[in-house]
Amino acid sequence: MKNFSSPQHISHYPVMLDEVLKICNPINGGDFIDCTFGYGGFSNAILSYPKTKVIALDRDIQTKKYAEKIKKNYKDRFSFYNKKFSELSKNINTKKKFDFIIFDLGASNMQILNLDRGFSFNSKTSIDMRMGLNSISANEVINSYSQQTLNDIIRLFGDEKESFKISKNIINERKKSPISSSVDLAGIIKKSKKKDFNKKINISTKTFQALRIFVNKEFSELINGLIEATKLIKSGGKIIVISFHSLEDKIVKFFFTNYSKNKSKVSRYLPDLSKGNTLFENYKNKIVIPTSEEIIKNKASRSAKLRYITRCKNDFFYPNDLKKKFIKYLEVEDRYV
Ligand SMILES: C[S@@+](CC[C@H](N)C(=O)[O-])C[C@H]1O[C@@H](n2cnc3c(N)ncnc32)[C@H](O)[C@@H]1O
Repeated sequence: MKNFSSPQHISHYPVMLDEVLKICNPINGGDFIDCTFGYGGFSNAILSYPKTKVIALDRDIQTKKYAEKIKKNYKDRFSFYNKKFSELSKNINTKKKFDFIIFDLGASNMQILNLDRGFSFNSKTSIDMRMGLNSISANEVINSYSQQTLNDIIRLFGDEKESFKISKNIINERKKSPISSSVDLAGIIKKSKKKDFNKKINISTKTFQALRIFVNKEFSELINGLIEATKLIKSGGKIIVISFHSLEDKIVKFFFTNYSKNKSKVSRYLPDLSKGNTLFENYKNKIVIPTSEEIIKNKASRSAKLRYITRCKNDFFYPNDLKKKFIKYLEVEDRYV
């Protein structure tokens, strides 16, 4: 059997690479930021075009070894930062602006399949779920947070209807002994849920997803990352986002749609943008999805959605309404105990 705990044994397919290359057309060169380096699939493909330059980021220190390999081949055109993309402009010490900024969201296979990191239901040793540069692990959340907060996390980020019973049983079980592995947590979830005849997803999926989002503050990261990218992209440059979760896609869609030129005031949250006070060119609300061939080759790509947008000439202004619109998610992500 393959040893999945070692990332070297995991085959990797960058999701929608052809589609990303088609949008960027790197044969013409350009300055790129790869906000989610992972194994470096995108960075490597872009750098194979001689006139390109790539700055890559990843919050996971374990990706550094892949970055070092790429650095050997492209010494002058590639640099890597072990940083979160929510702090893009703070970490990239440059006055220059970029042609393309790419986000390929979520966790990588390297993270999910490494049982020691506790992302998977099958980990007997851990329930950690930190991608990197976090303040808290899932273990601490499960063993110290109040039932109210656990309930809010599981309901809001997992869309789990039985969150109350799951959070109550977590509290009851941890009184007996600390919950120390994903397998233990999956057992508690199974006990808490009514028989599930919808066998499409594992009974624990929603709760695990919710904890992962909370631990990594994934929605705050995305919202701040999009705002940072908008600051750093050139006029005429493109921001490209691949998301795997419907709420992530909702955030991207709201931002692109409501700050584009073809959208004037559409919601009570928004100022009237019709007076040239926009950040992006016209947005057609187009979603690119993987081909059926790609889905056969890489099943994990099936929920991917790609959106991209072009920055317009207007000066940057802070899009406060993006945060206002999703404030309930940001508030829960900021909660402690
Ligand atoms: C789906 S993988 C990207 C795979 C990559 N495109 C490739 O071709 O190998 C997502 C990566 O983004 C990183 N990541 C997720 N959120 C991040 C954040 N807020 N800041 C920086 N990196 C992040 C994860 O650690 C993970 O390595």
